[in-house]
Amino acid sequence: MTSKYTPLKDHDTPIKVLFTGYLCTVGVGYMFALIQILFTHGMADGKFGLSVDDIVYSYYGNRSGTVLEQKLNGSMKENAPEQERFDIMQWARDGADLDDYKDNGIEKIIESRCVMCHNSAASGIPDLTKFETLKELTKQDEGATFASLTRVSHIHLFGISFIFMFIGLIFSFAETTPVKFKCIAIGMPYAFLMADILSWWLTKIHPMFAWLVILAGTGMAASFIYMWVISILEMWLFKPVFVSGLGMHYLQWRDSLKSEKNKARLDRTVDILIELIDTLSRVASVAKEKWSSTVWPFLQSLRKK
Ligand code: HEC
Repeated sequence: MTSKYTPLKDHDTPIKVLFTGYLCTVGVGYMFALIQILFTHGMADGKFGLSVDDIVYSYYGNRSGTVLEQKLNGSMKENAPEQERFDIMQWARDGADLDDYKDNGIEKIIESRCVMCHNSAASGIPDLTKFETLKELTKQDEGATFASLTRVSHIHLFGISFIFMFIGLIFSFAETTPVKFKCIAIGMPYAFLMADILSWWLTKIHPMFAWLVILAGTGMAASFIYMWVISILEMWLFKPVFVSGLGMHYLQWRDSLKSEKNKARLDRTVDILIELIDTLSRVASVAKEKWSSTVWPFLQSLRKK
């Protein structure tokens, strides 16, 4: 096949170095972004690791409590011992009164545990040296504010579209992925990026949309990883991977798909697969029945003894 572009493997080494440098840097950037997500949103429900609850709390908020309380049970948990956190929460629940603030020692706790980070020099996080700021945080937790969503939305749309611009441009020189799939891989991140931003706003309105946040984020990551890996492999490991390695089988398979005879064979394989899944699910349901009718009661009786 004659192509109208220079395939990745045939680019000059300086260009390959440039492409690789860019890919590696954004790859590391992506990693840090994930770590950041894990430590802020991931801790929203107080447990490490990302869950649907985390996303609901971050955007919709946890409407059964105050921001201060959610944070003290979430990402700020490590910053003060149990008793002091409890005292702060109690004070917030009792109406966050200024007199109580001074008399009950809340001010001291905040000064010793929180203001080293939350002070006037810190940007982006509330300045807890001001009582009014702290008082604001004792209102109902409604998740992300419209102001913060607007800010993060435009930063993400501008920033991330640039990242995918260049990754897509590099990947567009790939030759092992068929054109149709290339178009999908290059276009998908933009669709998912929009879906991602939209899903934040939707989740702010209704917690049901937290699933869309996860779906969009996963889709974006999947296309990122796919383009990244294929580009690097084609530039530096074309021969070992695509000529004499695993990729060769893939390419042969890809080309063989085009013949009619193979189309029929493919259809048959799909039929067999469906049959297999069907059988497996029947076996699984029988096994489940046996488990709940015999094995589980047996285990229970063992445990009682
Ligand atoms: C080590 C630095 C550090 C310390 C100590 C610290 N915080 Fe934070 N705090 C942060 C950072 C960074 C954020 C933003 C990321 C986040 O929300 O998890 C934050 C966010 C918050 C928020 C959410 C603000 C918002 O507008 O969403 C609250 C409330 C909060 N902290 C309260 C406290 C309290 C109360 C203490 C003291 C017990 C405390 N923090 C101690 C660094 C700190």
